[in-house]
Amino acid sequence: MKYEMSDEEAVLGRSASDIERYKDKGTAYFGKAVMSAGEKPVLGRRILLDVAKPHLMLICGKRGGGKSFSMSVLIEEMARQPPEIKQRLSVIVIDTVGIFWSLKEPDRNTAELDRWNLAPEPTQVRVMVPKGMLEFYRKKGLPVDSAFTIRVSELDATEWMSLFKVSWKDPEGVLVSRALESVRETMGTFYGIDELISAAKNDTEAEKSVSDAVAGRFANAKQWGIFEKEGTKIREFAAPGTITVIDVSTYRQSSGMEGTRDIIVGLLGKKFFDERMMYRKEEEMRALKGLSRESELPIIWMFIDEAHMFMPKDEENFALNVLLEWIRVGRQPGLSLVLATQRPNKLHPDAISQCYLFMSHRMTAQPDIGAVSELRPSYLHQDFDKYYQEMPREK
Ligand SMILES: Nc1ncnc2c1ncn2[C@@H]1O[C@H](COP(=O)(O)OP(=O)(O)OP(=O)(O)O)[C@@H](O)[C@H]1O
Ligand SMILES: [Mg+2]
Repeated sequence: MKYEMSDEEAVLGRSASDIERYKDKGTAYFGKAVMSAGEKPVLGRRILLDVAKPHLMLICGKRGGGKSFSMSVLIEEMARQPPEIKQRLSVIVIDTVGIFWSLKEPDRNTAELDRWNLAPEPTQVRVMVPKGMLEFYRKKGLPVDSAFTIRVSELDATEWMSLFKVSWKDPEGVLVSRALESVRETMGTFYGIDELISAAKNDTEAEKSVSDAVAGRFANAKQWGIFEKEGTKIREFAAPGTITVIDVSTYRQSSGMEGTRDIIVGLLGKKFFDERMMYRKEEEMRALKGLSRESELPIIWMFIDEAHMFMPKDEENFALNVLLEWIRVGRQPGLSLVLATQRPNKLHPDAISQCYLFMSHRMTAQPDIGAVSELRPSYLHQDFDKYYQEMPREK
């Protein structure tokens, strides 16, 4: 049986004047407003989300509630934009679980799709994995399109230290910094981990145990399969009109490697930020000269599932400051962020308070409901608890 549906729509994230001007062009359709309670609710307006401009969005809900699924719906909708919109978008999906490759496959739940007047259809996504981990993905039988690496010289001393969990107070931290300095002196920005290992081993000032420890740490980092002299160019990650899944799920189970995941997200975030800032300036110069504001670099939409891992509330994380920067000033240079978490209470409070687009599935844990209650806009008349109780149980 098909759902009863109205043809009216509401566009979120778009001003009234822009709705007037662009109608529903450049929007993602992600659901229907529920008009009544019960098993077979009456559904109202189509809910559309503006994707032509940068936004900040938070998706919450308890485990298994449908957060990743909701992200996928938005991603699918982005993939189906008309060419003139799609070319201006670049979607990056940070996949910590290894699920988003399945966008490539048409949904098998045809009965549910039929109720929505939809047909199963594959979505074109590009799955990128850390180069040294290709074997892991092959064994799991996941469809991988290409591999990526990070240029070793992208990491400065403090970043290596945080990766190795040492500080300036430790002799190891001091040696990391000295090894880096000596390598940079002789090789500029074109060096690999082997050079760092040699520099640590050949250091004359450090005690042998310290230089062995640091060389060992670098050798260990080499095993993560992510660092290379050259590194993947940022333009390769953010190609216009493409949806790129960065799969970092290989670092999920491997203890001592979680930091790698944070480094990938942090460095990508930083590079995108710098690149967009540069382009922004170029665009402004063009505008001053009376030229069009066209930019080659698309708006970047980064989807971060399990966002509490990268933006924790009371912990250090390599990616945290970069992502907070995206949240604070990213929209102006064209950076969009969609965060999902089942633990809003574990998420950095700025990530909650600054996200003005909020999508929530059912939540039952009081601390998590409490954390998002901060968002309560003035037009809502009752407590968040009550809304959660009234939400349909069906997905
Ligand atoms: N909108 C939906 N329509 C139909 N089925 C859905 C929908 N959302 C979720 N589901 C079903 O529920 C399952 C769990 O959803 P999903 O993996 O998105 O949850 P999650 O909130 O990301 O969970 P977790 O906290 O474990 O990451 C999906 O595999 C799918 O079968
Ligand atoms: Mg999920």
